[in-house]
Amino acid sequence: MKISTYLVLLAGAYGVDAKASFLQSPSIVGTNINSAEAIHTTAMKYDGEDGILLPQSSHNGWVNPEDLAPMPQCIAQQDQSTWLRAMTKCTSKRCTSHFGFICTHHQWLTQISCLRTAFSPDVIKSYLPYCGRSVLAKAQLYLWIHNISGRTWLVDVGDANGLQSLTPDSLVKGYAAVGVLHNAPTCLTDSVSALSMEPFQHVMASCGFTRTTQHTGNAARPWEYSERLRSMIALDFETVGYDLVQRRIYDLVLHRISDGEYFDKDCFCNTFNIDHKKEPCSGSGQLDFTKERLWINATCGSTSLPETWTDTLKTTQFAYIPIEDWHWPKCVADIPEQVMELTDQCATDACEVGGYCKVKRAVDRACVCRDISYNSCGGLCQIFETRIDYIKWLHDLCGNVQDWHGLPDNWRQLVVPTTLDMIPWRWTLKPSNESVITQIPRFGQTKATETCASNESKLISFALVNIATFLAVSLSQRTDILGVLTAIWTAFSLVGTIIII
Ligand SMILES: *[C@@H]1O[C@H](CO)[C@@H](O)[C@H](O)[C@H]1NC(C)=O
Ligand SMILES: *[C@@H]1O[C@H](CO)[C@@H](O)[C@H](O)[C@H]1NC(C)=O
Ligand SMILES: *[C@@H]1O[C@H](CO)[C@@H](O)[C@H](O)[C@H]1NC(C)=O
Repeated sequence: MKISTYLVLLAGAYGVDAKASFLQSPSIVGTNINSAEAIHTTAMKYDGEDGILLPQSSHNGWVNPEDLAPMPQCIAQQDQSTWLRAMTKCTSKRCTSHFGFICTHHQWLTQISCLRTAFSPDVIKSYLPYCGRSVLAKAQLYLWIHNISGRTWLVDVGDANGLQSLTPDSLVKGYAAVGVLHNAPTCLTDSVSALSMEPFQHVMASCGFTRTTQHTGNAARPWEYSERLRSMIALDFETVGYDLVQRRIYDLVLHRISDGEYFDKDCFCNTFNIDHKKEPCSGSGQLDFTKERLWINATCGSTSLPETWTDTLKTTQFAYIPIEDWHWPKCVADIPEQVMELTDQCATDACEVGGYCKVKRAVDRACVCRDISYNSCGGLCQIFETRIDYIKWLHDLCGNVQDWHGLPDNWRQLVVPTTLDMIPWRWTLKPSNESVITQIPRFGQTKATETCASNESKLISFALVNIATFLAVSLSQRTDILGVLTAIWTAFSLVGTIIII
């Protein structure tokens, strides 16, 4: 498994001489120990056949440093000088092979009984605030200390209770894959914790773990003595592995965890805090601000955020309409170009809600509504059948937008048929000496220029249409069934037409 990014990078910053991959990183400002140099000075035994390194056995309580368990992750991520000093104190050049009284072979060895006292509670105390953030990191440190000293506690008696038998529930808030960092805006991941000023990435690393314990450097040779530095140096460290959790058979099924890097949410949320008055992304644009808040909510819950945190979110809930959900009313053919263009002009990115931000292309509702009103579209949009659809569309789109008054005051009347809608030809009564009725085209739409019917037939159809209108309007007050209404209207219109002809 590839151990990437932050677990290793951070350790590198503190000087563990691990793999070349992270040594190349410019962020490494470690002691730059040349391990080849150290190898020359440390005696090694080969099997002579195929070059396999043979571990040195214990020489009366002295062990070859390379046989000691690798440095725990949380030590590698901090200043290791105290730790290395304790190990160095217990390491000296010993004779491992005699010829009579003459020593034929010297070797740097570490005394186990010395380590027991060197790693005193006082030494561990300085590492515990950091190592104790994550229950897994603390358990890893505990195992190391227990291994060399047999101690069942770290600093105070009882402080390691439960660490020997961790369960998935020991991670009280659970864990998340570090992949969710891709959903966090850089203004958040580059920020520092409000109280401690500790960088976000640093906190993340302290809470990180891998599925199984991984080596980050020279696993076969985790320690060696550098004569040049006159110090023990670490050539490897071990990541915290979720395998520290003792899993019972049913847990294996319930808590399946795949290869990869994770972080302990409780550890992160308790360590990284946000100043509600000065949030990391408050000056970085609304989308990043939304991403930040959604990320914190999804990771730590809303208690880490101000009470009204959802007020200004750029999400596809109401204020932003996902492009794929956008639709035009039925009278779309008559909608002017400049109105059609609003969806492009008001297009933007917004977050889909539910967990971490998933960026979606969306239309800014307020932006569209600013430039749209009932009169933005004439023609079909204002004719009875499609007008109802148009008004409903406008009302759904902008009705709840603050300060939008784009519908005429009488819009409620416009969604029920009016007298005018019931007259198939746009008639108006006008006293005249020549004829009783004069036909006047209205709305410029039905450019009715039919040759005039006789006064008699005009009067009959006028009467019929008025009856139809009367029926339709009175019916529509009692029932909402538009179909009935339209049918009657159509029927009478037909009769009217036939009579005229
Ligand atoms: C304990 O120490 C021995 C040798 O010193 C090593 O082989 C073993 O891996 C260590 N165990 C842990 C959990 O560190
Ligand atoms: C905030 O987190 C809670 C719990 O995870 C979730 O139920 C809620 O939907 C989230 N709120 C938003 C706006 O995403
Ligand atoms: C209509 O007829 C009356 C007389 O019957 C006449 O006084 C009037 O001027 C006429 N109006 C028009 C518009 O021709």
